[in-house]
Amino acid sequence: MIKTLSKYIGQYKKYMVITVLLTAAEVILDIFLPICMAKIIDKGINSGDMPAIIKYGIIMAVISVLAFLTGVCSGRTAARASTGFAANLRAGLFTKIQHFSFKNIDNYSTAGLVTRLTTDTSNMQMACQMLTRMCVRSPLNLIFALIMCFIISPDMSLIFVAAIAFLGLVLFFIVRTAMKIFNNVFGEYDNLNSSIQENIRGIRVVKSFVREDHEIDKLQKAIDRLYKLFCKAESVAAVNVPCMMLAIYGCILAVSWFGARNVVSGALTTGELTSLLSYIMNIMMSLMMLSLVMVMLTISAASARRICQVLDEVPDIKDCEAPVREVRDGSIEFDNVSFSYKEGTGEYVLKDINLSIRSGETIGIIGSTGSSKSSLVNLIPRLYDVTHGCVKVGGIDVKQYDVKCLRDKVSMVLQNNVLFSGTVLDNLRWGDSDATEEECILAARLACVGDTIAAKPDGYNTVVERGGTNFSGGQRQRLCIARALLKKPRVLILDDSTSAVDTVTEARIQKAFAEFIPDTTKIIIAQRISSVKNADRIIVMEDGRINGFGTHEELMNTNDIYKSIVAVQKEGNGDFDRTEV
Ligand SMILES: Nc1ncnc2c1ncn2[C@@H]1O[C@H](COP(=O)(O)OP(=O)(O)OP(=O)(O)O)[C@@H](O)[C@H]1O
Ligand SMILES: [Mg+2]
Repeated sequence: MIKTLSKYIGQYKKYMVITVLLTAAEVILDIFLPICMAKIIDKGINSGDMPAIIKYGIIMAVISVLAFLTGVCSGRTAARASTGFAANLRAGLFTKIQHFSFKNIDNYSTAGLVTRLTTDTSNMQMACQMLTRMCVRSPLNLIFALIMCFIISPDMSLIFVAAIAFLGLVLFFIVRTAMKIFNNVFGEYDNLNSSIQENIRGIRVVKSFVREDHEIDKLQKAIDRLYKLFCKAESVAAVNVPCMMLAIYGCILAVSWFGARNVVSGALTTGELTSLLSYIMNIMMSLMMLSLVMVMLTISAASARRICQVLDEVPDIKDCEAPVREVRDGSIEFDNVSFSYKEGTGEYVLKDINLSIRSGETIGIIGSTGSSKSSLVNLIPRLYDVTHGCVKVGGIDVKQYDVKCLRDKVSMVLQNNVLFSGTVLDNLRWGDSDATEEECILAARLACVGDTIAAKPDGYNTVVERGGTNFSGGQRQRLCIARALLKKPRVLILDDSTSAVDTVTEARIQKAFAEFIPDTTKIIIAQRISSVKNADRIIVMEDGRINGFGTHEELMNTNDIYKSIVAVQKEGNGDFDRTEV
């Protein structure tokens, strides 16, 4: 874990080293102050020696100023080191997530990833600050103060040793117990964030179903669970301060009692007793800091583990050595393909798929909900890797391609596609960052969304709000199609991407495809027969298998499922869902 995280200190390493050195210097300087105080009392005040008072007073002032300056500087470098580390970590996490395959992403909830990028990373920033400052300052302070106590009075130092042993035990108990609880706290944080995220994203659905009370209730439960866990953890950590105070007052009492007797017997001077009392405070404050740091580090350790989980995740889809960078044509082949989302469980969502599609063909795919239509096409641009068998594009196994080249040439409009904040042009240029305005306009026309954009006051510079909420469902779908077209793909896959588009417009889009991109293989998943009827061939999916593959006429003659879909939709029952309707 430390090895993984330390890579992200990067260019801020020097600030860390400087902080440690400055903090050590600050501690050493601080340690001399009580000695000077003892000298002022013993050599100056007790003997009425004014020059000695001035001499040690000046030394004290110089040391104080130096300690102050080193303190300020180490605070600044610590801040640079810790914020820099957090910035690197955040960027590293984000980059790692960008390289995740769909399968990697399936291992985490969105909220879990957001918490890692925000709360967990902030905890790491705090931990870094503590490690470079407090974790250097407190132990050094403790050791030096103890050494000084032993020099002044070895007998009385045993009081501190006993106090330290007592506090050490308390700390051990707190860290061990709190650690377990904090590990659960972060899991609960993910649940809370998931609830909030899901609610805010679907707030319109919540309102239309009048589910506000249910949602409030659900969130309240997550809040209550977090409250209980925090209470439990904090009540363990809260034992720390009373124990610390008990030790401090115990030490002061013991040192005053034994010290006074030693001063009376002449074994100790008044100055030495005063410095001993100062060192008690030093030691106890260091212990207090150390215990607080330990509790904080306990929390951060839970965050560190969660962050490392993401950083150590091996991206599931990688380029092979010497990848192919050119997709020759849009032909597609499936050779005995089986696919499972959970490898090793034997739960296949695609079974024994054999398929051969010629370049430039228009293929319709139809089938009931959950029949694995999306799963089938996801394998073509290698969004997931096949479990068995092989998928070929342009005659070459998709695993042989450079992933970027493959996905540029196999353009996919996902079922749950989204637009990003920015202008319409910005969104279209996701397809091709170098596309000219004319090319963008042509793509929008092909997708039958050109007139809609042109009618907007700002035209192609209209701002798309987050999630594209200022466009209708059908307009969003067509913008996504235009964006995919700009890639000038060899294969274009539309996964239920015209479901919100009326049949007339859909027919126009398909006509435009046939005219302007005749050589591109077009795969159209749809629920409506009218969307696929004119395709060169149609695949009928049923329960993860290909039930039929042929033209509309062929399927009408040979395929029962297809016939029943046509019959159901002809009766005016609307879109096809289950074949048994
Ligand atoms: N990311 C995933 N992890 C695990 N299982 C999944 C995942 N995505 C889909 N599935 C499962 O795979 C099966 C096929 O899903 P798929 O999305 O391919 O169906 P579909 O035919 O596209 O359905 P729809 O018409 O509703 O879009 C379903 O049983 C679904 O629960
Ligand atoms: Mg689907």
